[in-house]
Amino acid sequence: MARDKNLLRSDDLLKYILETSVYPREHEQLKELREATMKDERGGMSVPPEEGQLLSIILKLMDAKRTIEIGVFSGYSLLTTALALPKDGKIIAIDLDRSSFEIGLPFIRKAGVEEKINFIESEAIPILNKMIEEVKNNNEELYDFAFVDADKTNYGEYHERLMKLVKIGGAIIYDNTLWSGTVAEPLNSSIPAEILEIRNFIVKFNDFLAGDPRVEISQVCIGDGLTICRRII
Ligand SMILES: C[S@@+](CC[C@H](N)C(=O)[O-])C[C@H]1O[C@@H](n2cnc3c(N)ncnc32)[C@H](O)[C@@H]1O
Repeated sequence: MARDKNLLRSDDLLKYILETSVYPREHEQLKELREATMKDERGGMSVPPEEGQLLSIILKLMDAKRTIEIGVFSGYSLLTTALALPKDGKIIAIDLDRSSFEIGLPFIRKAGVEEKINFIESEAIPILNKMIEEVKNNNEELYDFAFVDADKTNYGEYHERLMKLVKIGGAIIYDNTLWSGTVAEPLNSSIPAEILEIRNFIVKFNDFLAGDPRVEISQVCIGDGLTICRRII
């Protein structure tokens, strides 16, 4: 029942949460997208539905309109965001790989929210750099919210750029910040090398965020760990 990365170590409790509070309220197209994604061998990369529900409620509480997503995959978090934004909401969604996005696109279309999404197939950093230039040159409005769920080794680079793109009072949310719980495991344990490499980046990034005076933070133990930052300077 529990995915490898789910930090809630009780399968029964996760089942209870999903069956009581999450699945009964999950949008039909999110459910269909989730089921289609799980047929793909990389399906586990998707944001889990209980985390999607949290993102949705945060977006609505903030009254977010303009958002950025880095790391789309098949679009569970993207469709969640699009459903949570008002009719005139806009999302810049960046991913290296359009083919995964196309798994989710039929469900996004069926949900009637495709117009809110500007999908850009690219490495995220050059696009963020271009967006910063546009904001500077055209005096464009800053963004309300950003969700980051791409290559973990670049989280520090994304953070510096998002601090220029997300407005004061806006939120930047990072996924996988507890990295299967390995952030708290001793270094001499038998963590596989590829997991360890990313674990070390995440540990540094978490330390950096904890000391970053430009944001307030909350580390949330949901899914694989989520860090919510609120820009204050
Ligand atoms: C964990 S998945 C995203 C899951 C997604 N949020 C969801 O709910 O399904 C990570 C995604 O980041 C993308 N990615 C990895 N490195 C990237 C980069 N440098 N720039 C843009 N996208 C990247 C991958 O192609 C992959 O689709």
